[in-house]
Amino acid sequence: MHAIYELAGGFLVWAALVIFAGGTVIRMAWLAATARKKDAAVFHYFSFYYALRSILHWIVPFASRNMRLHPVMTAVTFIFHLCLIITPIFAAAHVILIAESWGGGWWYLPDAAADIMTLTVILGCVFFLIRRISKKDVRYLSTAGDYILLVIVAAPFLSGYWSYHQWSGFEIAGIVHMLSGELLLICIPFTRLFHMILFPFTRGYAGSEFGGMRSARDW
Ligand code: HEM
Ligand code: HEM
Repeated sequence: MHAIYELAGGFLVWAALVIFAGGTVIRMAWLAATARKKDAAVFHYFSFYYALRSILHWIVPFASRNMRLHPVMTAVTFIFHLCLIITPIFAAAHVILIAESWGGGWWYLPDAAADIMTLTVILGCVFFLIRRISKKDVRYLSTAGDYILLVIVAAPFLSGYWSYHQWSGFEIAGIVHMLSGELLLICIPFTRLFHMILFPFTRGYAGSEFGGMRSARDW
């Protein structure tokens, strides 16, 4: 068990970070090359003004018509993403680990806040799961991969919480935590989770076409 712990906390952290960064660069380069071949016009009408205008409308809660039509989904999505991104960057355990390994470090969340935000992410995943199962149109469009992805996102939060609170079996939860965190990072470039990187590009694309070509809004 000690050997797995060492591997998960050492080599695999680096391997996951390299695959995450390398996969992101390669996929972006491939997408740019495909766009140049199949949709070259986009490079001519791309506009930073309309791109930014669209991005801003879609990162502000309730700024788009679709968000106002689905208030519960919108509120859950925003709170979920805030907690999902902020918690791992500012969890005390992570900041201290980084400070110990490489020096430096930064401000970290009080434990109670990290706990509440971790639980919020887990509940967010449960909400998305129930939505997928209970809404007929969403269930029809869902694939096995969509369900597996929700588990992959929830796993580091559940196991991190478990390990941190030293509930029974926490040594195993700690190993599961590191492995599932690494799996999540590796999955980002190769799955739908890549929306994290694509978001400004898809909005920029739609914003430029609607604003610059059709003189219309895309929100
Ligand atoms: C890549 C390797 C990772 C390592 C080595 C790592 C390490 C740790 C450690 C040592 C803890 C404290 C648990 C304890 O005290 O036993 C922790 C907690 C936590 N980690 Fe990670 N982690 C990793 C990735 C991630 C990822 C990718 C996420 C989420 C996206 C994440 C989210 C959390 C959360 C939510 C907690 C609990 C915070 C709390 O409730 O206070 N970790 N992590
Ligand atoms: C950093 C910028 C990010 C942006 C702008 C973003 C944006 C979005 C948007 C617009 C949705 C769709 C919500 C809807 O259907 O109304 C979504 C869903 C989701 N995102 Fe993100 N996201 C980001 C990062 C991430 C990251 C880093 C992860 C996980 C590692 C993630 C996991 C999810 C999940 C699990 C869902 C719900 C999927 C479902 O419906 O089953 N997102 N995101």
